[in-house]
This record gives sequence, structure tokens and C-alpha cells, in this order.
Amino acid sequence: MQVKRSDFPDGFLFGTATSSYQIEGHGFGGAGQTHWDTFAATPGNVVRAEHGLRACDHYHRFEADLDLVKAAGFDCYRFSTSWARVLPEGRGTPNAEGLDFYDRLTDAMLERGIKPCVTLYHWEMPSALADRGGWTNPDVAQWFADFAQVIMGRIGDRMHSIATINEPWCVAWLSHFEGIHAPGLRDIRATARAMHHVLKAHGTATQAMRAMGLGNLGAVFNMEWAKAATDSAADEAARARFDGYYNRFYLSGVFKGEYPAEGLEGLEPHLPQGWQDDFATITTPVDWCGINYYTRRIVEATDGAWPSLRDVEGPLPKTFMDWEIYPEGLYQFLTRTAREYTGDTPILVTENGMAAPDAMTNGAVEDTHRINYIDDHLRSVQRAIADGVPVQGYMLWSLLDNYEWALGYEKRFGLVHVDFDTLDRTPKASYHALAKALRT
Ligand code: FCB
Repeated sequence: MQVKRSDFPDGFLFGTATSSYQIEGHGFGGAGQTHWDTFAATPGNVVRAEHGLRACDHYHRFEADLDLVKAAGFDCYRFSTSWARVLPEGRGTPNAEGLDFYDRLTDAMLERGIKPCVTLYHWEMPSALADRGGWTNPDVAQWFADFAQVIMGRIGDRMHSIATINEPWCVAWLSHFEGIHAPGLRDIRATARAMHHVLKAHGTATQAMRAMGLGNLGAVFNMEWAKAATDSAADEAARARFDGYYNRFYLSGVFKGEYPAEGLEGLEPHLPQGWQDDFATITTPVDWCGINYYTRRIVEATDGAWPSLRDVEGPLPKTFMDWEIYPEGLYQFLTRTAREYTGDTPILVTENGMAAPDAMTNGAVEDTHRINYIDDHLRSVQRAIADGVPVQGYMLWSLLDNYEWALGYEKRFGLVHVDFDTLDRTPKASYHALAKALRT
């Protein structure tokens, strides 16, 4: 790895990120059922019907996992809290074991000098609330704020930073329009409602946490750089539509109190009545903006229903997810987000990384591809900082190979290899390279 810590400003935070359902083992500790458990149990949704009931068994092994975070020299650790582990029915009586778990996890970070960076929701809606419509029900905003109060009432005093909801696009569009993630819907009305309610929930919870005196609150958005397949006007319009509903919709809502015209043209008829009145809540100020970035997308226009576009295969080298490697997109998003939406508000890269079919050979994993990927993306971060963008941290996805949602356990994103039979952890070459770069 060429890039090193000393290439970044003093105080720049390096971290690694995970999420609860992907690593903890949801079958342990009295957690309630979530829509991912039932989605995975329905044939055809997840590769080999794999689920998160055991995952990496982080629930029992978190001390050793945090030793790995510490030994790599990371400053912070981005983790998430499972709603159904804390509130098995989504509301009502908390699960004492669940609260205790996050309490111990927090203290274990602090004991190691690692800053805890929590995300409240990383995709596992409690089934009891999914039964009531989950993200399509307007009441979800208050349910979520109540959950935020319960879990932050226990650990909020020790958090370095707090994010509300991971990746609104995935929560709403991928899960309600494309049907690829739980709850697996393909319905534009459900999508529009989920898109709006996810932001309303973000704002409502942010207000509730401010009222508790908590600070360093943020929002995390995922972005894919959009490119038109050709320079025809039709393809360029398709690119703008994609950019509108994928990248701009949520940022516009939170930072401008409006939705972009390219999103509204298809979604407005399906938004809940009185949606404009919610912007007062949605624009509740945040202290930082998180960007999750992996790839770009090439789109072309079609004659089909709105958004009337489809993906075209790109020419660049791809990761095991079939995602093109395009570090320039990270630079573009960092600069564009600051210029058009966030101004002086700090930005953090809250996820970036790549999947590969990493195999162990003689006890080692030589993932040179990942070292190069990280290097190239860190250079994009450096360029943005040099241009004056207030980027304050970079978090690598992910610490461990883990449950990659509908793709099961074969898409390995970890700096640390996990053998899913024995659950043995083996740091890969990328882990060692990053540790060296962070010492330098
Ligand atoms: C992001 C998710 C994370 C993981 C990575 C690969 O969209 O936040 O859970 O699946 O992609």
C-alpha cells in the first residue's frame, strides 16, 4: 500500500465498518425476528437460503474481534445496533440481554481506545413492525425515534458519533422497488412511501436524540456515480433520472428540504399526502454527512415504465460483486456533495471496499486486489481534501467476511478472512498492509 496515515491531516479518522445482522448471530441473546430472517427463509430470495442466525458469531467473539480492530491501528469502529435485539417486538419491553450486549461492546471499544461510531439501523426491521407495513407505514418515524431513545438511553453517553439509518436508497428502493432485499417488494407506491418515511424517521430520531443532549449526529447515504451509455439526449436523461432517485433524492431532502424534479416525475403520485409538510422534520440539522461508495453505474434509456432505464455492462475491471472499480467516482461525490449540499459540514466516507473470492493458501490470504482498491480510493479522498472538501474520516467495509445479504456468505469483503465452518479469523494481506500504513 502506497498511501499512509501521514498523507492525511492530523485527526483524520481511519476506521472499519460492520453491521449487526451481518456479523453478530441473530439467533443468540433473545433477539426478536426480523424481516431478514423471513426473507431468507423464503425460497429464491437469498443464495442457498443463507441467513444471519449465526453469521460470524460476533455476539460471543466481539472481544477478540475488537482486538483485531485495535491491532490494525484503527481509530474508530463503525457498528450498528439491531432494533429487534433491543426491542424484540419493535416496541414495548426491551430485551435486557440485548441492551447489555451493546453496553459491553461499547465498553470493550473504549477499553481499547477505539472510538464507537454507531449506526442505529442497518436494515433489520423487526417482524412485528414489518407486519404493520414497516417503512411504508407513516408511524415508522415515531417507532424508530422511540427505538433510538431506548438504545441511546443506554449507550449514547459513550458514542463518538451516531448515524440514524444506513443507506436510505437500499432501505427504500432496493427493497421495495427492485425486491432484492427484505421485504422483497416490487411496488412503486410502497417505494415512494418508504423513500419518504425513511427520511422522516431519520429527522424524527435526530430530534429525539438532540432532545436527549446527544451530539455528533449524522446521516449515511450510499451513492453510485452515474454515466450515460451514449451521448444521446435520451440516455443523458436516463442518467439524470438515475442520479435523481438514487443519489440526489435523499441528500436533497435532508440538506435542501425538497426532492429533485427527476425523482418527483415518477414518484410524486405515490408519495403520502402532505409529504411537503414533513420537510421541517427531515431537514433537522445534522453534524456530519456519511458517504458509502463502491462503484459507478452505466445506464441507457428504455421504452418501459418510469424510470425507463436499464443498466449496461461497463468496460472497467470488476470486483466479485460485478461492480466496476471506479475510484474517480468517490472524488466526484465528495466534491459534489460539499459543493451542492453540505458546504462546511464534515463528510466521512463511512463505507468503501471490495468483495473477492479470497481463498486461504498455506494459512494466508494474498488479497493484493483489495490493497490496490483501498490505495486508489484513498487517493481520491486525498484529492478531495486537497480541493478543500472537509473529509474527516474513512471507514473500510468490512472488518470481517460476513453475510452479504441476498448474496449469502460467498462475497468476501473482509480485511479478515472468516472460515464459516470453524469461524476462525485470519487477517488477510490487506489487513497487514493497512496496519502498516496506519503506523506510518
Ligand atoms: C453496503 C451495505 C453493507 C454491505 C456493503 C457491501 O451497501 O451497507 O451492509 O452490504 O454494501
